[in-house]
Amino acid sequence: MSVTILGIESSCDDTSSAVIRDGVLLSNVIAGQAVHEAYGGVVPELASRAHQQNIVPVVSEAIKRAGIDKSEIDAIAFTRGPGLMGSLLVGTSFAKGLASALNIPMVDVNHLQAHVLAHFIQQPDAEFNPPKFPFLCLLVSGGNSQIIKVTSYNQMEVIGQTIDDAAGEAFDKCAKVMGLPYPGGPVIDRLAREGNPKAFVLNKPHIPGLDYSFSGLKTSFLYLLRDKLKEDAQFIEKNKCDLCASLQSTIVAILMDKLYKAVKQTGIKEVAVAGGVSANSAVRAAFEQYAQKYGWTIHLPRLSFTTDNAAMVAITGYYKYKDNDFCDISKAPFARVEL
Ligand code: KG4
Repeated sequence: MSVTILGIESSCDDTSSAVIRDGVLLSNVIAGQAVHEAYGGVVPELASRAHQQNIVPVVSEAIKRAGIDKSEIDAIAFTRGPGLMGSLLVGTSFAKGLASALNIPMVDVNHLQAHVLAHFIQQPDAEFNPPKFPFLCLLVSGGNSQIIKVTSYNQMEVIGQTIDDAAGEAFDKCAKVMGLPYPGGPVIDRLAREGNPKAFVLNKPHIPGLDYSFSGLKTSFLYLLRDKLKEDAQFIEKNKCDLCASLQSTIVAILMDKLYKAVKQTGIKEVAVAGGVSANSAVRAAFEQYAQKYGWTIHLPRLSFTTDNAAMVAITGYYKYKDNDFCDISKAPFARVEL
C-alpha cells in the first residue's frame, strides 16, 4: 500500500515542508529567514515570528508542488526537537492542527536522526545509492558535531561528540570576528579557495577518545588576530583568504582525525557525512581522499539536503510510520536531547 507523508521542519531559522510518497520526494519547499543577517546570528524571537508567517504558505506550496490533495496524506511528520523552543512550537502546533483536521496520525522526528536519514531520500530522476547498514555518519552542523553509528533506520548510537562548540559554530564565530557576514561557513569556504591553508598554524585539541572540541581552536584564532592586529591594523583585510584557508583546513583535520579513529575502532568503512557543514568543499574533498587512501565507501549528501529541510523530516517520518511508531497529540517539543 502506498504511503504519503507530509514533513514539517521549523527547528531553527528555516521554515520547510515536503511531501514524500513511498520514499520518493515529490516536493520540498524551504523559506529562509533573511531577517537574522543584520544581527550576525539567529535571533530566536524573530525566528518564531517568521515561522508563524511562513508556515501556512510553505505547507500549502509543498502540497501543491507535490500534485496531491490533502486527503491523500497518510501522516504528518514534524521536527519535535532539538532546536529553538519558540520555533519548534510553531511547527509542532501547526502539525497538531492539521493532523486533527485531517484525522490522520502524527510522527515526531528527531532533527539529528533526520539529518542522517537525508541519505535515504529518493528523487524521481536521480541515482539512488544509499549507505548500507551499519555505517558511520559524521553529523556536522551549526549546533552539533557527532560521530554516529547507524545500525538501522531507527537505531543510532552517538559514539563521539563535541564537548563544547560545534564545527559550524567554529566557522560562524571565527567569521564574525573577521567581520564576515552570517552564516560564516559558506563565506569562509569561498574565500579559502584563494588562500594558503599552511599560512597560519592554529591549535588542535588533544581530547581522548572520539569526542571533539572546537573552543580551543576558536581561542587560538582570536589570539592570533589580536597579536597581529597590534602590529598592523589592516592585518585581517590583507590576509583574509589565508586566514580562512588555515582555519578551514584545521577544522577539517580535527573532524577527519576522529572519524578515522572511529573507523579503526569499529571496523566500519561505510562512512557518510550530514548537516550544514557537509556542504563544505574541503570536508567533501577530505572524504574523497580518505575513500581512495583507506578504502572507505563514502556518502556525501546532495547540497540541497545538507542544511535544514523538511525532506529529511518526511523520510524519517516515512520509516517511523512503517514501524507504526506514532506520536500522541499531547506531546510537546524539546529543545535539547541526544539521539
Ligand atoms: O544543519 P544546519 O543548516 O543547521 C543546524 O541545524 O545547525 O547547519 C548550519 C551550519 C552553519 O554553521 C553554517 O555556517 C554551516 O552549516 N555551513 C557551512 C557551509 N555551508 C553551511 N560550513 C562550512 N562550509 C560550508 N560550505
